[in-house]
Amino acid sequence: VKTALSKKDLTGENILVTAGPTREYIDPIRYISNRSSGKMGYAIAKIAKRRGADVTLISGPVSVKPPADIEVINVETAGEMHAAVMDNISMSSIFIMAAAVSDFMPLETKGSKIDKKEKLSLNLVKTIDILEEAGRFKNKPFIVGFAAETGQRLDRARKKLIDKDIDMIVFNDVSKAGSGFDVDTNEVVIIDRKVERKLPLMSKDDVAMALFDRIKELKDNGVY
Ligand code: CTP
Ligand code: CA
Repeated sequence: VKTALSKKDLTGENILVTAGPTREYIDPIRYISNRSSGKMGYAIAKIAKRRGADVTLISGPVSVKPPADIEVINVETAGEMHAAVMDNISMSSIFIMAAAVSDFMPLETKGSKIDKKEKLSLNLVKTIDILEEAGRFKNKPFIVGFAAETGQRLDRARKKLIDKDIDMIVFNDVSKAGSGFDVDTNEVVIIDRKVERKLPLMSKDDVAMALFDRIKELKDNGVY
């Protein structure tokens, strides 16, 4: 990993990365979201840049500092993230969907604050699956998804790779110590159409390094 830090082997690649959670508003004050910190996606963007790529980062609301010299497009909702991805994907050679998109959104968002004395019940509808839509494109980039599962559900991750018609999926068990939310480490299995590589617990920067090593390997072998 040490020697790899200096290599500029992603020069010429245009990499689109999404990171962080989305927020789906109930009213102007309240929203539905999830526990994503954005750390994995930000590490990916940073490492891609360091290895010479042009990087665009589409980020949901996070508290991690934006990486230096990277164009960041800030979004809040799944709808906004979808629009930003669609605006940028045709320019990209690699698309990495590390964001934790909210799966559900309220059917309607109230324009003013709901009084807590009102009886509230929420009608939720599914958000657009951004990755699945990207997977249906004709001239698509190399596409990487993430599968955050509770437990060793590699079967669920493999199914997502096939169903969303993408090139690679990064499995992680978020219920495992050191692999959960808001930590600087991750323990993943990189699954592509050929092999599955189980990596030990490592920093998110090193996971990003390993991810690009594998993408490079596949691209250099002319598979993509
Ligand atoms: N994803 C997406 N748009 C959504 C939901 C998910 O692009 N509306 C992407 C995520 O960014 C991730 C991948 O799909 O790269 C898998 O997300 P995950 O939550 O593990 O799977 P889902 O397909 O959403 O199914 P479930 O939450 O039921 O496991
Ligand atoms: Ca989901």
